[in-house]
Amino acid sequence: MNQTFQKFMEDELSRLREEGLYNTIRVIGSPQGAWIVVDGKKMLNFCSNNYLGLANHPEVVSAAKAALDKYGAGPAAVRSIAGTMTLHEELEAKLAEFKGAEALLTFQSGFCSNLAVIPALVGKGDTIFTDELNHASIIDGCRLSRAKRKIYKHCDMASLEEKLNDEDVEGKKLIVTDSVFSMDGDIAPLPDIVELAQKYDALVMVDDAHGEGVLGSHGKGAVDHFHLHGKVDVEVGTFSKAIGTVGGCVSGSKILIEFLKQKARPFLFSSAVTPADVAATIKAVEILERDDSLVKKLWDNANYFKSKMKEQGFDVGNSQTPITPVMIGDAKVAVKMEERLREEDIFAKSIVFPTVPRGKARIRVMISATHSKEDLDFALEKFVKVGKELGII
Ligand SMILES: Cc1ncc(COP(=O)(O)O)c(C=O)c1O
Repeated sequence: MNQTFQKFMEDELSRLREEGLYNTIRVIGSPQGAWIVVDGKKMLNFCSNNYLGLANHPEVVSAAKAALDKYGAGPAAVRSIAGTMTLHEELEAKLAEFKGAEALLTFQSGFCSNLAVIPALVGKGDTIFTDELNHASIIDGCRLSRAKRKIYKHCDMASLEEKLNDEDVEGKKLIVTDSVFSMDGDIAPLPDIVELAQKYDALVMVDDAHGEGVLGSHGKGAVDHFHLHGKVDVEVGTFSKAIGTVGGCVSGSKILIEFLKQKARPFLFSSAVTPADVAATIKAVEILERDDSLVKKLWDNANYFKSKMKEQGFDVGNSQTPITPVMIGDAKVAVKMEERLREEDIFAKSIVFPTVPRGKARIRVMISATHSKEDLDFALEKFVKVGKELGII
């Protein structure tokens, strides 16, 4: 290794350790579920995005197995050359119908979808308006586009309008936001954003990673939740959260999807998602379509856990969804709390800078439909015990 780079990496890693920001990666030795094996120990899982338990649903697993037998393990090409299979098209048609969109294109992940769509739509000479708490993949998509960036205050419509009026705004205008903010669980005011977009002739793009399977009828997402069908121009989705598989998508008008097939670089230069992933995703969408009991169970669990945590004196921020941030503040205390919870068989991760601003460290609790009331009561007891011990409540 080149000595300059060796030193650079060593110094940076030491700094992260000293500041309590070093991220220890835990290893899971079981399928995803309410209880999982973490580093060899069985624990109650509050870390995964498997909101509805579909990652290990028997029908989803069977669909993946059948697709392996029928289509093989890999797509063997980028989609624009020979990697588009009948399965990809089946999924795109099904998901577009589920979301109430004219058309849809799948990508390798949600992250990839943002990197694909933003630079395809805007470039040098254009302006993007982006919420300050948008996901890293939106931030990177914006950077990659080389368009001018105007960062507005979190969910603050006065701030967005002020930016839309800036003198140096140029070219095409794109407003981009998460629907549900993944570290806080609050929901973007989409109807107000759409109104401002119409007033200022801007395009609206929403990343619904944490809205899909959670918000709207049968988990159709944020657009359905706000009855904004046809008014949000670009909707990004991911299959790695409530859908329980892997992949991402962009939906919107027919011309948008036709355009992305010609212009989106991850579509053109990176291979497609595997047949097993696609078939599993189709099955997950079918389950959502026919039955909303998992979505209801998720919300029952979330409402129960949040209200009990508040009763006990915890600050759960401004969450409006099952994402429950337990606010701590100091990164070192949050990391200590994660450690103590782990000793008590609770797997809930501390979230610290740079994922959240300095001084806003938290334990993020991801509630799932797979949790039973007994699981949640067990967790409450442990949170109270550790919270008192560390002087948080
Ligand atoms: C808002 C948002 N967008 C995109 C992603 C990335 O999704 P994926 O895991 O499919 O790449 C995430 C996941 O953390 C997310 O929270």
